[in-house]
Amino acid sequence: MANRPDTARPVVYVLNGPNLNLLGTREPHIYGSETLDDIAGSLEDRAIELGLDVDVRQSNHEGHLIDWLHEASATGAAAVLLNAGAYTHTSVALYDAIKAISVPVIEVHLSNPHTREAFRHQSYVGMAAKATIAGLGSLSYLLALEAVPRL
Ligand code: DQA
Repeated sequence: MANRPDTARPVVYVLNGPNLNLLGTREPHIYGSETLDDIAGSLEDRAIELGLDVDVRQSNHEGHLIDWLHEASATGAAAVLLNAGAYTHTSVALYDAIKAISVPVIEVHLSNPHTREAFRHQSYVGMAAKATIAGLGSLSYLLALEAVPRL
């Protein structure tokens, strides 16, 4: 995951929550075989074509995700793509953080939580986000990025 280059292109934060650092080996029948670095590379390539810049981050800690949402707002990010992992289904604090900022947030999931366990059917992130793209593997991230210039 490259650091943000020194550029004037609009920045898209791509925030990833718990256990997504394990992509590639984590339940590949559900999440695929690509690593988060693979996904970041694809997003960086497409971002350049779209005239955007992506800043891809991952944390296993809820507060980091909240701090990064605040930072995205403070720095004038164009959008946030947020895969909050399991915090999607539990975090009122993430809901509040998304509501507190004016940066558009697109909820992203590799899998389709609605076809999985019942506890994944509720999304606090989705209740606050502008849109949700789920179930398409790494393409979910790329399609979310495609939307950013049209937001
Ligand atoms: C996920 C779906 C969540 O339910 C799960 O907890 C994850 C990954 C996805 O990308 O499919 O960690 O967000």
